[in-house]
Amino acid sequence: MGVIARYREYLPVGPATPEVDLHEGSTPLVPSRNIGRALGLERLFFKYEGLNPTGSFKDRGMVVAVAKALEGGSRVLMCASTGNTSASMAAYAARTGVRAIVVVPSGEIAMNKLSQALMYGAKVVALKGTFDTALDAVRELTSRYPVALMNSVNPNRLEGQKTAAFEIVDALGDAPDYLLLPVGNAGNITAYWKGFREYHKAGHSTRLPRMVGAQAEGAAPIVAGHPIANPRTVASAIRIGNPASWEGATSARDESGGLIAAVTDTEILSAQIRLANTEGLFAEPASAAPLALLIRLVMEGKIEKDSTTVVVLTGSGLKDPDAALNNVEPPIELDGDARTLAKVLKL
Ligand code: F0G
Repeated sequence: MGVIARYREYLPVGPATPEVDLHEGSTPLVPSRNIGRALGLERLFFKYEGLNPTGSFKDRGMVVAVAKALEGGSRVLMCASTGNTSASMAAYAARTGVRAIVVVPSGEIAMNKLSQALMYGAKVVALKGTFDTALDAVRELTSRYPVALMNSVNPNRLEGQKTAAFEIVDALGDAPDYLLLPVGNAGNITAYWKGFREYHKAGHSTRLPRMVGAQAEGAAPIVAGHPIANPRTVASAIRIGNPASWEGATSARDESGGLIAAVTDTEILSAQIRLANTEGLFAEPASAAPLALLIRLVMEGKIEKDSTTVVVLTGSGLKDPDAALNNVEPPIELDGDARTLAKVLKL
């Protein structure tokens, strides 16, 4: 079952909305076995969004946005992307038989994300500049031509993405105390906050979480309080200098009593390896940013040890293996038999 079927009553869909579904959503809320204990946190969970059909949380919003675009008669879909949005949009466009055009910042997105968009049959344009340049161009074109804008400025994207908050509440029986996630274009933090509030209002939870957003230090416009012209970080998914949902992110932060802070690339990569090494969860660098922030906040004594904390792992580590492989030992090259192997492995 996809998110439209599962949460239909909370979504802007009706009898005229076409059925679209890649079995997105229903991702596991995995309890930490090791990091939580090491940090002294009793209840730490990972929302494993990399298990969505195209490997990121984007599928939740895309399925709703594509269904609504089809309902409205669109035949051409377009987005700007740091990679995951384009992969997701291309998949749903392929499935429903409409054209997909994606604009990505040239040379700035992970190869595996690009390969997804190409394999799903999208027309891919690599535009010189940043994600922000690409989004400006896409917004202009979609306002002038009969082409549907599929970035998270499309409210249907956020409607679908909010279902992740519902799932967390459904799994825990209440909202967590803290919800940590990466912030790039800021759509997801906006969507989660909307989801938590709606579900609370509907009586499914007794409280609301504090929303904690992580940006990368070289791409932290919200933390800096102004746009960043040339955002830089290893976490290419959140290499964004002027988030479209800026306002949504700061409202989520302020209304929830949360915070948005920046972590360094070194912290991101070390959190990424720790997550893979000690939990068996391989997430892309952007997804490790909130874990890096959590580690810092716990060390600063800013998270109560008995709190329920959820870290959203927004995308699969398989999306961007190059970023990870720079930080692990390469395979041992060997020409030999079992005996030499045993010796090398010190068995
Ligand atoms: N994590 C991953 C893996 C992402 O791909 C993104 C955004 C984010 C976090 C941040 O979410 O933008 O809602 O604040 N990726 C977009 C894209 C920009 O084009 O795929 P956000």
